Amino acid sequence: MGKHTVHFVDTGESLACSDTDNLLRSMEKLGRKGIPVGCRNGGCGVCKVQVLGGSCERRVMSRAHVGIDEEAQGYALACRIIPTSDLSVKVIGKMGRAFASVHTNPSTGE
Ligand code: FES
Repeated sequence: MGKHTVHFVDTGESLACSDTDNLLRSMEKLGRKGIPVGCRNGGCGVCKVQVLGGSCERRVMSRAHVGIDEEAQGYALACRIIPTSDLSVKVIGKMGRAFASVHTNPSTGE
């Protein structure tokens, strides 16, 4: 078992992630408000991220949330990927609130 560093480009934060836990579970360990409690099973899409660099193991995820084109661009569901190297990640889904994404509208949270 090892650790990889996941770097969040939106905030510049880094998080040590186990290579046995999926990315969402490691993010939850931050204990931060706003980490969504979704299906944790690749079906709801709230944990969507874009992997900009590094490698990860990808488990089955809903095509409704991550299309083939998107997958080619690195989009993934955090609950369905396990880091296999250090990663650089952009938060796309509702977790953006917790990670202060520049794409989050403060009045609506969307
Ligand atoms: S928590 Fe539902 S897709 Fe990840």
